[in-house]
Amino acid sequence: VARTGYGSGQHSQHQHRGSIVLDRGWRYDLEVWVFDTFLVRGRITEIRRQVLDLAQLSAGQSLLDVGCGTGSVAIEAARRLDGSGRAVGVDPGPRQLDRARTKARRAGLPADFRQGVIEDLRFADASFDVVISTLMMHHLPDETRQSGLAEIRRVLKASGRLVVADFDYADRANGHTDGLLQLLADSGFLVVQEARVPFAKPHRGWSGVTVLAGQADRPTT
Ligand SMILES: C[S@@+](CC[C@H](N)C(=O)[O-])C[C@H]1O[C@@H](n2cnc3c(N)ncnc32)[C@H](O)[C@@H]1O
Repeated sequence: VARTGYGSGQHSQHQHRGSIVLDRGWRYDLEVWVFDTFLVRGRITEIRRQVLDLAQLSAGQSLLDVGCGTGSVAIEAARRLDGSGRAVGVDPGPRQLDRARTKARRAGLPADFRQGVIEDLRFADASFDVVISTLMMHHLPDETRQSGLAEIRRVLKASGRLVVADFDYADRANGHTDGLLQLLADSGFLVVQEARVPFAKPHRGWSGVTVLAGQADRPTT
């Protein structure tokens, strides 16, 4: 299995229907900390903050974090909800979820973590005000990105907001950002806000991260 280079040690990752599943628990957090602190100088922390800022959460709202990993962003969302509303994370990796639950418990925050995949979200239609996805789209094959975005459309309320962050590739003329913009447009989302977090120098072919916020641009059929 190829390494993806961010939170992806050699041994605790596998492929599931073409998606690269990470299952590293606390080791994932350690790797992200090293990557963030020494290689990209706090940019990962900044991206996570941007995702939550663009989510524009307000009291009582419900948020779903798809591909939540060890739960860092969902737990921060629960902190912003301050005991109101609901923060839920799904990821296919059981060790990622165990670590997420431990962190939420230690922080005394009520985030709920469940095993699941973007292409088959086990939630009723129109369940969430906000869906976020941070640095996970590059783990998926094209067809799963499309079916996953359709699932997100389904579980989002009509007025709901989607925030997606993913890496830009330094060596692609049109970059990954255009692909992400196109994917959101094809999936029936209108991009309403955009933020870019560049790395000081490219790392493993990534020049930075783009964060897009979208809203449904037509009713779900
Ligand atoms: C690089 S990590 C990002 C985790 C977290 N969002 C963060 O920012 O720390 C990508 C995550 O996507 C998960 N993943 C892989 N395939 C998936 C799928 N089909 N559906 C949902 N999550 C998936 C992986 O298991 C991994 O935990």
